[in-house]
Amino acid sequence: METLQCILKKSFSHAIDRAFKSLSDTDKQAELVPCHQEGFGHYQCNSALGLSKILKKNPRAVAQEIEAALDHQTRAMCEKIEIAGPGFINITLSAAFLSQEIMHTLADPWLGAVRPKKKLKVVVDFSSPNVAKELHVGHIRSTIIGDCLCRLFEFLGCDVLRLNHIGDWGTQFGMLITYMKEHAPQVLKGAKKTDLGELMIWYKGARKLFDADPAFKARSQQEVVRLQSGEKEALHAWKIICDISRIAFQEIYDLLDVLLIERGESYYNPLLKGVVEELEKKGLVTISDNAKCIFLEGFTNREGQPMPLIVQKSDGGYNYDTTDLAAIRQRLVDEKANRIIYVVDSGQGLHFQMVFKAAEQAGWYDPTQIPVDHVGFGLVLGEDGKKFKTRSGETEKLIDLLTEAIDRAKKVVQERLPDASQQEIDHLARVIGIDAIKYSDLSCHRTKDYTFSYERMLRFEGNTAVFLLYAYVRINGIQRKTRADAHGPAETIALQHPSEIALALHLRRFGETLEFMARDLLPNRLTDYLYELAEKFNAFYRDCRVEGTPEEGSRLLLCQAAARVLKQGLEILGLQTVERM
Ligand code: ARG
Repeated sequence: METLQCILKKSFSHAIDRAFKSLSDTDKQAELVPCHQEGFGHYQCNSALGLSKILKKNPRAVAQEIEAALDHQTRAMCEKIEIAGPGFINITLSAAFLSQEIMHTLADPWLGAVRPKKKLKVVVDFSSPNVAKELHVGHIRSTIIGDCLCRLFEFLGCDVLRLNHIGDWGTQFGMLITYMKEHAPQVLKGAKKTDLGELMIWYKGARKLFDADPAFKARSQQEVVRLQSGEKEALHAWKIICDISRIAFQEIYDLLDVLLIERGESYYNPLLKGVVEELEKKGLVTISDNAKCIFLEGFTNREGQPMPLIVQKSDGGYNYDTTDLAAIRQRLVDEKANRIIYVVDSGQGLHFQMVFKAAEQAGWYDPTQIPVDHVGFGLVLGEDGKKFKTRSGETEKLIDLLTEAIDRAKKVVQERLPDASQQEIDHLARVIGIDAIKYSDLSCHRTKDYTFSYERMLRFEGNTAVFLLYAYVRINGIQRKTRADAHGPAETIALQHPSEIALALHLRRFGETLEFMARDLLPNRLTDYLYELAEKFNAFYRDCRVEGTPEEGSRLLLCQAAARVLKQGLEILGLQTVERM
């Protein structure tokens, strides 16, 4: 289905074409946007103001001419078309037209979302924690936001590749393996089990020794050489370390219900040499301080000195920059991605801008054809306003954060549903706890820092997951109750009351919302939309009786549409719904 905005834009563009033949094609494109103030109408055309300058006419006169040139079909959709202020054309759609539109929406499996005709391939690089290193809350943000964007593009019919670019390669493994050989040989032999917490402690111990003890440092460097030349024993140790980390990561992904395909840094290792050679052949590489560098115009440090991407260090080793160049090349050239999204904290913005620019100069893609975006995000702050830290010290597992949310949700559920079985309570607590964490993250503007608060995220009032879940339960309750003792939904909708019309218009705008979100990759577009949907539903339910009225059948259909859009919207956010709470 096309969005209303798109339908109206076409109608008004045609009218401009008919009224002012001499204009260029771009000038004939109507400027058509949703009305910002509810009282003025549903949409507005702002073209008259700009065109008046080109046509050297009074803007109100231009607006009148556009209005007069509208075709019959457009007029039939509208209740009112009004010229206001200096020349805005305000459009109010008719109840009959919106009734029909909601029927179409209900019949559409995509609920009015616009799906591209060609199946596009979208690569999303998200989550991407580092093996044996501390997982920080930033990785949880990346996981939640990245998963939401994947779900959006999947819903829009794209072929989505969900990549976990884990940090599983690099010189740090030399010291970690050496340390474990000397302090935890049983683990390397497979005779003793361990976990990520212990691994992180060893990692810290290894780092200390590496800096303090030259002999340890030398042994570590030899270990790196062994690992990089693919020596069996070293590779085996590396694999054990990765496996331990993987188990901890997977525990979090299972709880969050997030699917990822692991393609860590090591995946690109065999490609690095070739990529550097290609970049050299293309004349992009300069030697600086014995390192191979790419200098890009416009990238300078604080002192105004040019800042390079380092593709090969003076000791011959490759690094994070090289791996990301190999990865972007692989995604563009081999995967043939139509769009690439990197969900990584804003602190890495400069790195990605440089990688994208270098890829462009290497001729791997044309940014006007293939959007490649770094989707940055702000920090998670504790209630003290400082960077969020887990309470029991640095090595606490992030999984505890999720478990705490579930525990707190359990208390809420126990209080509200004293008759529920233990099994039901456990299920509800898990869904509500995880939903609350996800929603509180997604509902904040992505690029801003946000304050983490269990108490706020579990509130029943305001813009929270709990508020939306409760609205969903309520709509279903109305449908269940009414259907049980009456005739069920009607064949068609006949909207009458202003609250009904407002709700219907909002439901029809689901596709528009997803379209905006796919453009600017801001999940809070959808959370804001759903919050407004729940509020509009509540207003409708307050103003319009459903059970036992002549309008019952029609209103039940509207409830059905609201329930489906709400559930689908929550699903795109990665939230599950519940049947009662
Ligand atoms: N492992 C990195 C970190 O924790 C994030 C990787 C992001 N993805 C990428 N292609 N560089 O900071």
